[in-house]
Amino acid sequence: MSDIRQWLTDLGLERYGDIFEREELTPANLPELSDDDLKALGLPLGPRKTILKAINALRTGDTIAPSHSSDSDIPKRLTEKNLASKSALEGERRQLTVLFCDIVGSTELANRVDPEILEKILRAYEDACAACITRYEGYVFRRMGDGIVAFFGYPLAHEGEAERAIHAGLEIIAALSKLDVPDVGHLAVRIGIASGLVVVSSAEKGDEGEPLNLASRLQAIAQPGSIVVSEWVSRLARGSFDYEDMGEQALKGYAQPTRAYRIVGVSKATSRFEAATQERLTPLVGREQELGLLLDRWALAQDGEGQVVLLSGEPGIGKSRILIALRDRLDAQGVRALRFQCSPYYMNSPFWPSIDNFERALKFSRDEAPESKLDKLEALIVTHYGRPLTDVRFIASMLSIPCEERYGAHTMTPQKHKDETLRSLVDLAEAAARKQPSIMLYEDVHWADPTSLEALDLLIDRVRSFPLLIVLTHRIEFQSRWGVHGHVTGLNLSKLMRGQSSTMISKLSGSKALPAELVEEILTKSDGVPLFVEELTKSILESNQLKEAADRYEYVGTAHSITVPATLRDSLMARLDRYMPVKEIAQIGAAIGREFSYELVAAGSAPMCVC
Ligand SMILES: Nc1ncnc2c1ncn2[C@@H]1O[C@H](COP(=O)(O)OP(=O)(O)O)[C@@H](O)[C@H]1O
Ligand SMILES: [Mg+2]
Repeated sequence: MSDIRQWLTDLGLERYGDIFEREELTPANLPELSDDDLKALGLPLGPRKTILKAINALRTGDTIAPSHSSDSDIPKRLTEKNLASKSALEGERRQLTVLFCDIVGSTELANRVDPEILEKILRAYEDACAACITRYEGYVFRRMGDGIVAFFGYPLAHEGEAERAIHAGLEIIAALSKLDVPDVGHLAVRIGIASGLVVVSSAEKGDEGEPLNLASRLQAIAQPGSIVVSEWVSRLARGSFDYEDMGEQALKGYAQPTRAYRIVGVSKATSRFEAATQERLTPLVGREQELGLLLDRWALAQDGEGQVVLLSGEPGIGKSRILIALRDRLDAQGVRALRFQCSPYYMNSPFWPSIDNFERALKFSRDEAPESKLDKLEALIVTHYGRPLTDVRFIASMLSIPCEERYGAHTMTPQKHKDETLRSLVDLAEAAARKQPSIMLYEDVHWADPTSLEALDLLIDRVRSFPLLIVLTHRIEFQSRWGVHGHVTGLNLSKLMRGQSSTMISKLSGSKALPAELVEEILTKSDGVPLFVEELTKSILESNQLKEAADRYEYVGTAHSITVPATLRDSLMARLDRYMPVKEIAQIGAAIGREFSYELVAAGSAPMCVC
């Protein structure tokens, strides 16, 4: 049962589960749901009231302990499911990212305002923090004075926990800067974020150790309105943000100086892949056939028969890497590819990949005036692509640019407005392709919002008659609805062959060979998934287990076996958390070895229902 369905079931409203799932609502959306949203979903008054009350409880006392004590209350927000998973996690070692947020000048604030007003201010601050943290599926763990401690990676893990924590921190800062307190002005906070390995049972007892202490110390050195992260966090979320290296910092309670980084802002890289690999890219190994097929479809598209390729595969198998290779080939031919990137954080924001694409293409700055943005849009849509001025208004309102002053108020129903926006987008793509044969790279469609999927429905249906190649990437679990068309080709990426994986290893280790048994271990553990080959090899090269000799690497001391690198822990844990019963097997398996019999696992585990 999905989390949202479970939540509704707990309220006795399971009959609305289908509606919530159809709209792809998740528990993270709950704090933002309004009565109007629930009306739009068609819910009658009674269930609306029940749901709003439960949401309110989530937003307030149940999410953050209302008392000012620093006791480690576990928020009641944990659903029964989470509690069940929590008990299953007891004693488990996992990677935890901790966000520590504190108000600047709270003592002074307490002296200046009445206790009642102070209570209201603190409540508003907590609500804002809780909403931002839950949006990125973090867990508000407890309060420490006016500080709020949130966990990312517990009780449920997701991919990219460090990235989620930083996004949440940036949104907390933005939300509080909008919160105007009479006689006080804006509230400012300092935020520290650190990651580390913890044993879960001790985290419950308030002994989260390293990451919590470090996050709190990093918070203390942050400037008001800023985030400081540990070196580990900066590496986990590498490429997604711009950082300022603050150098080695002497932190209270730490014998050695600790490197710290200030978050400057979100990186401008156009895709998650580019964000993660900005520094260096492993030279492409294999994939000649896949590239050949893509270039073949490109040739067809150029002749006016638009084509769609659905490139699927598990995470880390190399979908994005192939798109980079394709883009490089096309760059050499002078063809520029348009890139769209879906995001797990914006699965419920209509048109998000298109909005992101326009904002990057037109280089909108944060404080750019609406007039200037509209000028740029008109230049692109009307002057460059010859589309009518009426289409600009739909795209402008999609981009939330105020435009009534220039184009007058619009009087359409919301449905008609949405249909016209979809039409304008598809017309624009067609105009661009007719002007010059084009390529559209649409990444990670499993995270696309429902409206963007509708835009793709329309585009994929129409593309067969104009020179456009659309390449979509997605994970295997995504059920594509476009496979029935003749101009759509599915391409599932297989694992690398052993020889290809070992070529990758030698490219990564440069001209010097790794010890043969280490190469063997990487090959076995990575099982043909290039991401694992890369991360395992890098983590070994970066560890101090090896030293460089003239033409090869040698062990320092005795040989060790390979451990899971930090950069893979979140995604492995996320996969395991999603499949709770499997996780138990994996944990037993981790103790036994790579291959194990059913009988052995059954002997080592509690009885389990296989259904
Ligand atoms: N064929 C390949 N040759 C070399 N490196 C590869 C290859 N395929 C993937 N990689 C590397 O493996 C990592 C994961 O690949 P990526 O394209 O991000 O996977 P996906 O998009 O399927 O999740 C990247 O760092 C990428 O550079
Ligand atoms: Mg990718």
